[in-house]
Amino acid sequence: MGSIVAIGAQWGDEGKAKMIDYLTRESDIVVRYQGGANAGHTVVVNDEKFVFHLIPSGILHEDKKCVIGNGVVLDPILFIEEMEVLEKKGINVKDNLVISDAAHFILPYHKIIDAALEEFQQENKIGTTKRGIGPCYSDKCLRIGIRVGDIMDEKYLKSRITTVLKIKNLQLQGTYNEKPFTVEEIMDILMTFKKKAGNLIKNTQTYLHQEIAHGKKILLEGAQGYGLDMDHGTYPYVTSSNPSIGGALLGTGLNSVNVTEVIGIAKAYVTRVGEGPFPSEADEEAGERLRVNGNEFGATTGRPRRTGWFDATLLKKSAMINGLTQIALTKLDVLTGFEKIKVCVGYDMDGERADDVCLSRYYKVKPIYVEIDGWEENISKCRSFEELPINCQNYVKFLEDEVGTPITYISVGPGREYTFKK
Ligand code: GDP
Ligand code: IMO
Ligand code: MG
Repeated sequence: MGSIVAIGAQWGDEGKAKMIDYLTRESDIVVRYQGGANAGHTVVVNDEKFVFHLIPSGILHEDKKCVIGNGVVLDPILFIEEMEVLEKKGINVKDNLVISDAAHFILPYHKIIDAALEEFQQENKIGTTKRGIGPCYSDKCLRIGIRVGDIMDEKYLKSRITTVLKIKNLQLQGTYNEKPFTVEEIMDILMTFKKKAGNLIKNTQTYLHQEIAHGKKILLEGAQGYGLDMDHGTYPYVTSSNPSIGGALLGTGLNSVNVTEVIGIAKAYVTRVGEGPFPSEADEEAGERLRVNGNEFGATTGRPRRTGWFDATLLKKSAMINGLTQIALTKLDVLTGFEKIKVCVGYDMDGERADDVCLSRYYKVKPIYVEIDGWEENISKCRSFEELPINCQNYVKFLEDEVGTPITYISVGPGREYTFKK
């Protein structure tokens, strides 16, 4: 019994949480491995909507454990808010969640610097979620981050914060014209976190390996997606972590021997939020239709998502880099009613075929489309591949053949019950 990694195969918001919730039934522990509260993961159960930012989507299952892994950047204020909202709704977070002592804290200055950096580079802004993700991961690399486990030794913590603030305050005041922070302000935030969540902190790397040794099945929940990966994505229009398979191992301490399945979660079309190249972005009319049908508005920032056609060339790369063994295809219902559905099967760059171009040069390519016949029938009641209209089946088969990875799950609605195995 191996571990399963579920990775967003496009530019995020693929319906990962909905699939994680489904896959949690066959797992024991669900682990977030990277990113932070930039994620917005939606699960709909009996018409009730839950949006997770930091807590793994598996938390809705009372009998499962959840882990915030060492690769995550954790905003202590947002975390407490999220935990309290869930507890009020009757979800038992405290007994079912552990937090890695090696995860880094996102502190208020990270969020201020995130927003200020965007302001600073107006013409080339990334369109970040302003959750402090980039500045926090940079501090981690600079070795001036504050880690969750640091709060266990208050004397040590205070001396770390004092040193770190010397640097951060200079940056805040000198570069960004912002107010400095006092050691007490940061200590207060962290001591509140300690009081409310201190007993959830663990060495999660060891915990996960021990649980694997006891035969437990681990499910790793990716945030963001392959196209937003700092190394493999459309740099610089990416997030500051590695949503891809490498990040899954780094962000949990699991190794490649532990992982037996890598499931790519892909929408039946594509969306992206924020700036950056998007070769298969739809024209205004089709784009708006996809946005309205798919209710494509960000779960974290509420921003309208950009919409476009399924990009099989992107998915092939995603499958190659991540070692996808399966694909879960979501939001197929959103394509109902389109007479023709486009699929991007390659790129043209300056008149030449350029399918292998790296994602950071996507601003140079034009999509090469194939058009597939659409379907009119409402598919939201279908619970097997055979029940789908024949044109819909043909569309799924076409994607599968183009990408070369089996589509094993299909989702035709936001609720838990709308997912089936192909
Ligand atoms: P995530 O970040 O990958 O977890 O995805 P988000 O939660 O940000 O966005 C996915 C949105 O699509 C959410 O509003 C889901 O409730 C919704 N959704 C997920 N799967 C389906 C589906 O198969 N059909 C429809 N219509 N909506 C879906
Ligand atoms: P989930 O997990 C979609 C995008 C932002 C921006 C870029 C960098 O819900 O799929 P950041 O705040 O990370 O520095 O922003 O990444 N982005 C996402 N887009 N889904 C997400 O998460 C995202 N998290 C970040 O819009 O373009
Ligand atoms: Mg999302």
